[in-house]
Amino acid sequence: MAMKKLVVGNWKMHGSRASNAELIKGVLAADLPKSAPHADVAVCVPFVYLSDVAEMLRHTTVACGAQDVSSRAQGAYTGEVSASMIREFGARYVIVGHSERRSYHAESSQLVADKAKAALAEGLTPIVCVGETLAEREANQTEFVVAEQLKAVIDTLGAQIAEVVVAYEPVWAIGTGKTATPEQAQAVHAFLRVQLVAAHPDAARVPLLYGGSVKPDNARELFSQPDIDGGLIGGASLKAADFVAIAQAAV
Ligand code: 13P
Repeated sequence: MAMKKLVVGNWKMHGSRASNAELIKGVLAADLPKSAPHADVAVCVPFVYLSDVAEMLRHTTVACGAQDVSSRAQGAYTGEVSASMIREFGARYVIVGHSERRSYHAESSQLVADKAKAALAEGLTPIVCVGETLAEREANQTEFVVAEQLKAVIDTLGAQIAEVVVAYEPVWAIGTGKTATPEQAQAVHAFLRVQLVAAHPDAARVPLLYGGSVKPDNARELFSQPDIDGGLIGGASLKAADFVAIAQAAV
């Protein structure tokens, strides 16, 4: 649906100040506005690097974001980082509900929805992740699972659902080298689109990203599916050449 594809790197818990600078240098050297004119590009980095990375990306077309946010605006929440703090460091996006947070930190779909709301309240665009495990897919529960994850966000945001980005990341495809086939991904994306439009007509414009072992050699076919509006890239976003090649696969 989106005019341009959206290609977002999720660095997860990788990097150092020195290696980040190298990576960003490599990405900027590709002159993405010219070499990847059909992609909007962003990188979501660990909180502590937001300041450095935002500074390096200032006056470029590459946006930056965080990987999580507190559902609370401020207060006695030791270890949490608020949306206004993230915003102050120049971020535009924040990932919420990544499967690694849902599983390792027991984040519920309602908490994820509250995080999306907190992000929007500060003008950040939440990238809401949904996706099923292998056991759920094999039990034919994929649609049920992603619908439940999305419903909490739809119910919590109301009309603001049109302002989010949704990323479909099948858990079995994350970091495993097993990509969903373009047809598998497209089928879930089409299902998500129907849910979104039913919730609010303006949500037809919500970009739907695919994530899970996206690489330079499979990006083009994934991005050519009608309901795949871009990608959320883990491992391949840590190598400038691969990340750039994925952005360039957007046509
Ligand atoms: P990989 O691209 O490493 O499979 O990770 C996907 C992901 O989880 C992005 O958020």
